[in-house]
Order: sequence, then C-alpha cells, then structure tokens
Amino acid sequence: MDQRPIGVFDSGLGGLTAVREMRRLMPSENIIYFGDTSRVPYGGRSPEILLKYARQDVHFLRSFDIKAVLVACGTVSTTALPQLQAENDLPILGVVEPACRKAAAMTRNRRVGLIATAASVRSGAYQRSLRQLDPDIAVTAKACPLFVPLVENGRFRRGDVVIETVAREYLEPLRREGLDTLILGCTHYPLIAPAIAKVMGPEVTLIDAGREGALLARRRLTELGLLAP
Ligand code: DGL
Repeated sequence: MDQRPIGVFDSGLGGLTAVREMRRLMPSENIIYFGDTSRVPYGGRSPEILLKYARQDVHFLRSFDIKAVLVACGTVSTTALPQLQAENDLPILGVVEPACRKAAAMTRNRRVGLIATAASVRSGAYQRSLRQLDPDIAVTAKACPLFVPLVENGRFRRGDVVIETVAREYLEPLRREGLDTLILGCTHYPLIAPAIAKVMGPEVTLIDAGREGALLARRRLTELGLLAP
C-alpha cells in the first residue's frame, strides 16, 4: 500500500482522458496532473526536443513525492519512454504497449489502423509493438497533425463542423482500407471519438490509448503492491 500520488503528464489536456479512466478505475488514488500547455503541441517536434521536454516534465512531477508516472502522451511514449525508464528509479508507464495489446486482442481481420501525431507515426513505435505481438497484423498509419491544436482550442464538441470536416479529410482514405480496429494513438483523440466514429463506421473498434494506459497503471501498481489503501 502506498498513499503517495501518481504523476501524470501530457503536452496539454489530452492526458486528462487517461486521468478520467484512472479516477474511475482507482478512486482512492491521488493524481498530480501536468499539462505542458505553454509548449503544446508536441507532435511536430524532433525526438531530441521531445526527450528534453519529457525529462523536464518528469523532473517537475518528481518535485512532488510521487510513486509512479503515467506518460499519458502518445508522442512522448513513442519517442522517449526507454530513456525516461532508464533514468528514473520509479515505475514510468507509457500508452503504446497497452494500446497495441488491446488492438491485437480485438482485431479479427488483422487489419489495424493507427492515427497519432506526426512524431509518433514517424517513430514507428506503435507499428513495431503491434508486429511483435502478432507479425500477421497489417498496420496502416496516418498522422493527423491538426487534431491536437483543434482539441486544445475547444473544437471537440459533438457535431462541431470544423472537427468533423478535418476528420473526414484525414480518415476517408483509412475507411477504405477495410480496417476493423483503429488505435487512437494520441490521448487527445478520445475527446473527438464521435467525429472519428462517424467517418469510420460502427464496424471499426476504436482503441483509446489513454484508457489502456490507465488500465496498465492499475495492473502495474497492483503487482508492485503500490495501490493506495
Ligand atoms: N496527447 C499527445 C499525444 O498523445 C498530444 C501530442 C501533441 O501535443 O501533439 O500524442
């Protein structure tokens, strides 16, 4: 049992989709959330800058007495997780592996789509993780760089004409790929899941990386005996 808080961070408000799940799954936990809103978006930045920001984010969270960190950011999880894990003596969890595990378990036709930031898609981390889990999965990846700035600017309400237009533009080509599973590889995207689902159709299962990260956090804290009483 450990009463210390869990630190969670993202470039902005997207990681709150993971916090929402954490609060549902682990209501006794204290959570300290850091959204780096002065530097959002992260998704167009280089791996070097992302590592620098990620180190600063973790350093800031560690100024509180935390017991673990959930990197509720697909972009940092794809580009800086191994370094953060090597440099810190507490559990640092990311969203890539749990999201891929869920996608591999859900897909029936082994055609999985990935939407994420440009940095995440470029890193190949989701694609590698899926291939490791099942080499027969065919992955179609697409960067959606306008989604994060639009969400940060409040354009995520159901029926918002701007987000729906942009979603159609990005996702129409994916819809024609015959996917049955689509990973929302950026934690901002669950906030626009209705617009995404409207284009992809009801037969495509959406995987929420934030939710899977929250589930991983509960699993790992349970294994380590670190859950709050
Ligand atoms: N929520 C972040 C992610 O999961 C957004 C990154 C950005 O700021 O572009 O990738």
